[in-house]
Amino acid sequence: MSESQESGIRILLGVTGGVAAYKSPELVRRLRERGAQVQVVLTPGAARFVSPLTFQAVSGRRVRDDLWDEGAEAAMGHIELARWADLVLVAPATAHFMASLTAGLADGLLSTLCLASQAPVLLAPAMNQAMWQHPSVQANRRVLEERGVRILGPAQGDQACGEDGPGRMVEPDEIVDTVFAEPVDIGSQSLKGLRTVITAGPTREPIDPVRYITNRSSGKMGYALAAAARRAGADVVLVSGPVAVPTPRGVRRVDVETAEEMYAGVHQCIGDADIFIGCAAISDYKPDCIAEQKIKRTGSTLNLQMVRSPDTLASVAALEGRPFTVGFAAETQNLRENARHKLINKGLDMIAANRVGRDCGFDLETNSLTVLWEGGEAVLEQAPKTVVAARLIQLIAERYREMHAELSSTQAG
Ligand code: C5P
Repeated sequence: MSESQESGIRILLGVTGGVAAYKSPELVRRLRERGAQVQVVLTPGAARFVSPLTFQAVSGRRVRDDLWDEGAEAAMGHIELARWADLVLVAPATAHFMASLTAGLADGLLSTLCLASQAPVLLAPAMNQAMWQHPSVQANRRVLEERGVRILGPAQGDQACGEDGPGRMVEPDEIVDTVFAEPVDIGSQSLKGLRTVITAGPTREPIDPVRYITNRSSGKMGYALAAAARRAGADVVLVSGPVAVPTPRGVRRVDVETAEEMYAGVHQCIGDADIFIGCAAISDYKPDCIAEQKIKRTGSTLNLQMVRSPDTLASVAALEGRPFTVGFAAETQNLRENARHKLINKGLDMIAANRVGRDCGFDLETNSLTVLWEGGEAVLEQAPKTVVAARLIQLIAERYREMHAELSSTQAG
């Protein structure tokens, strides 16, 4: 396929210096067979394993390997390349490259591109099995995954170094299948230009100057949704309770603490929103009054009088000309019935229900959701929260478009 015929997804393929780089030209061919445009970026180490000429021949594009390439800077410099990509795929990704990405280094063209790009990043690591299992590499893997980088593999088996274990790059066919299995995340721009407000994390309701009531929400799901909505092209405001999760790139974050601050924070920016997703675990009750001084221990029991705090989600759903409103229902029992009840009672457009308990839901890396709307439902199977979030954003985009198409055909009729 010639460059001009290619109209599919634009993949920036980074190749770093591991022996598995010999499989990367095959990967380029497989991606192009599926209609992708592939721009190869080599690190100096990769160019020692496979010649740039090989990549040029299979990709049909001049290979980029230099941050200081004056000729290219005028045409497609590193920023333009970063903007061009629908997906940044690095295969193989070495331990060194994963460390650079974790630290945010901009010491070469590929690492600089990764910093400058808003596109999703998919890594296929390859290294000696002991290196892969080293605590530093595993710590980097965790940080990268928390930031929404998808890591595929490595596979188990014989290694070029003569050892056996986890460290082989997954085969090109599996990488290609993964790339095309998640079209939502890859350049679909299904929420392009839509203003989206998302709440995330827990709230804290103070009892006295040193104590508060909170819950086990980590904020990971809401943050993954904000990242996925941003990647789908939305303009995202994230109203967040106190969490230890980094703000996704390109997302505006507003920090709040109590349920009342959450309510006020949301209403300050909901005016022109197209979509609202209430993912925060907001406290339903707050202490009636906050003690000015630390409450002292006495010989008898302590009673706290609690009063209702405002329901942000229901208040957004009740707005005139409200945005497409999505709620969450964290349930310990009767998941579907309780969620459908909330969908109707709170007047929502969609609700995403998940089971919570000691070993599911809160503060974990994975999640599964049952999503309900009027006349339909979908089950999003157990997967990393980043993947479940991308699938939910896809559902929201589809349902949003359907509703708007129905509205405009009613108005036209
Ligand atoms: O009724 P329940 O609290 O289970 O509903 C959960 C949904 O309502 C979530 O989307 C949550 O963000 C939202 N909520 C809210 N304000 C509250 C309590 C819950 O917006 N005070």
